[in-house]
Amino acid sequence: MPVRFEGWESGSRDLHPIFQMNLPEGALLEAIRRSITKLVGEDDVTILRVTGGNQIGRNRFSLVDDHTSGVVETQESLADLLSYPDTEELFRDLVSKYALSSGVSGIQPKVILEASERGTASIGRYIVKSWGGEYPQLAANEFFCMTAAMRAGLPVPEFHLSENGGLFVMKRFDIAEDGQSMGFEDLCSLQALGTAQKYSSTYERVARSIKDFVSPEYVQKAREQFFASLVLSCIVRNGDAHLKNYGVLYEHAGSLVSLAPIYDVVTTTAYIPKDVPALSLAGSKKWWPPKRLEQFAMAHLALPVGRITQIREEVVEAVADTRKMLAVYAGETPDFRNVGGAMLAAWEDGLRQYSCPPDRSS
Ligand SMILES: Nc1ncnc2c1ncn2[C@@H]1O[C@H](COP(=O)(O)OP(=O)(O)O)[C@@H](O)[C@H]1O
Ligand SMILES: [Mg+2]
Repeated sequence: MPVRFEGWESGSRDLHPIFQMNLPEGALLEAIRRSITKLVGEDDVTILRVTGGNQIGRNRFSLVDDHTSGVVETQESLADLLSYPDTEELFRDLVSKYALSSGVSGIQPKVILEASERGTASIGRYIVKSWGGEYPQLAANEFFCMTAAMRAGLPVPEFHLSENGGLFVMKRFDIAEDGQSMGFEDLCSLQALGTAQKYSSTYERVARSIKDFVSPEYVQKAREQFFASLVLSCIVRNGDAHLKNYGVLYEHAGSLVSLAPIYDVVTTTAYIPKDVPALSLAGSKKWWPPKRLEQFAMAHLALPVGRITQIREEVVEAVADTRKMLAVYAGETPDFRNVGGAMLAAWEDGLRQYSCPPDRSS
């Protein structure tokens, strides 16, 4: 969408994908609607106007004569967020304070805020995610999946699980050390699709977008990262690796573009036992046999067989290790026992499927 004086017309009543990208969904959207409808309206443009000053990435949206920054000046303490005994009450409070300045997408209840960091004088910017009755214990679920990603050597943002398991807190990767906002675009927006189409694509097209948008210097790394994340999603049975859960990151217009770190990996079969992958590969959505993933990695990511096998082994080992931690936590945490048990079983299936040599399992 090159800069020009003339306007752009989309030909549809929907907002252009880049404007839709960070529109709050789910619980956060409801919270925002509740607090603004009486004042201004509830269409997408209004939501964009309200949250547009504080968005993931470096785009900001405002009315021409509106000069308020949209950034809330208050701060939380990270240590308090992680140790507060009543997370429901805490999260309600956070929503009432930060919902209107949280330009962040996703179905799970969440807000963006600033917090002072433990043992330092510095301030970090965080996304705080909670969960509702539909997806119990989602924070612990995500925490263990992200731990497996980290142990597999994948880039992940700093992340925490609150002491009572009520919140998953992660540091924003779209803000550089010096506080500058970095550019971020999710693959939904890069494929010029609206949020409603986030499941309507293929991993082949994701591979294509990586080639098209990631700088040549970083393409190899991005391809390996994407393949490892795909293997991870298959093993931990994450059926939500859709277009909004991948993105690219860059410092400013014209600088090098890399694949954003891993985020939003969850064992979805703990809630939807028959869940399948979010996007199709080789024409189907199923937990593909390792041989199929290998063919995909060779044909669409140009990875050599030796590297493919190595990545798969690294991810298998990381999930197997993390599974032990998960078993201990499930044993010690009665509220997590059901979801934890379902996760352990799902991971065991995944490990069994992806541990076998590729040439015996097509
Ligand atoms: N650590 C992070 N830093 C910056 N942006 C993030 C980070 N994690 C997620 N996001 C952005 O926030 C959106 C919602 O987060 P996500 O974890 O995917 O929530 P949900 O489970 O509701 O989909 C993502 O699609 C992405 O745009
Ligand atoms: Mg998501």
